[in-house]
Amino acid sequence: MLPIVQGALYDFPKYYDLVFGSDWQAEYCFLRHAFHQLAQRTVRRVFEPACGTGRLLVKLAAAGYDVAGNDLNPKAVAFCNARFARRGWPPPAVVADMASFRVRRRFDAAFNLINSFRHLPSEQAAENHLRCMADAVLPRGIYVLGLHLTPRGRPTVTSERWSARRGNLAVNSRLWTVSVDRRRRQERVGMTFDVYTPTRQFRIVDETIFRTYTARQMHALLRRVGAWQIAATYDFAYDIQRPIVVNGRTEDVVYVLRRR
Ligand SMILES: C[S@@+](CC[C@H](N)C(=O)[O-])C[C@H]1O[C@@H](n2cnc3c(N)ncnc32)[C@H](O)[C@@H]1O
Repeated sequence: MLPIVQGALYDFPKYYDLVFGSDWQAEYCFLRHAFHQLAQRTVRRVFEPACGTGRLLVKLAAAGYDVAGNDLNPKAVAFCNARFARRGWPPPAVVADMASFRVRRRFDAAFNLINSFRHLPSEQAAENHLRCMADAVLPRGIYVLGLHLTPRGRPTVTSERWSARRGNLAVNSRLWTVSVDRRRRQERVGMTFDVYTPTRQFRIVDETIFRTYTARQMHALLRRVGAWQIAATYDFAYDIQRPIVVNGRTEDVVYVLRRR
């Protein structure tokens, strides 16, 4: 049994980035195809709200995009900016709330994958976020938004595991649904990181609340905000050749929203 450290996983960007940073290729290729095929303008400037450690921003910057992002967590932002500094690039990330921010110069495209949007705790925060994003993205640009919807009946995705290793550091992570309260629209999610280094082994235990969205609730929100048109929808296979039709049974979805 590993010794337990209670803490917020996002306060450990090195471990977060090892686990999720190794899994960037499918998302990266998908984003590039989406920028090329679904934006109705040339994409040069790209923004990521809730950018975390910048695992995708750094790949896009290496491909020549002009990138920026924000995140609520100062440790994640510092980690992201340090990885750019090591390459001699300017810091792309700032600490900010994705539900209330402004950008100085607008972007051609934006993206927000793996459920970060669901951290926004209320309908008002979600609406404010989509309006901030509408101010940040130029007309005919796109916003690629990936999240798990709550399907009708019993959701089937309840537990996920990832493992990653770099040198002497290994991290096994687990994420599982503790409970879903459809009325209050809250999914309680448990998360652990088992961390193995040559000198220490421990388990970081965290819990977070994700706001739930049925397809209908998500579409009503988008209609209310009005600034975004759904250009295409995909699942987490990230196959640009295979758009999906979202219905009441859909779980993972990537909306490609186009700025009107
Ligand atoms: C699942 S991580 C995703 C990080 C990154 N987008 C990625 O793909 O690796 C979720 C991130 O959302 C950030 N976050 C949560 N609420 C936020 C808010 N209101 N504004 C900005 N960032 C937020 C967390 O600090 C965390 O870094």
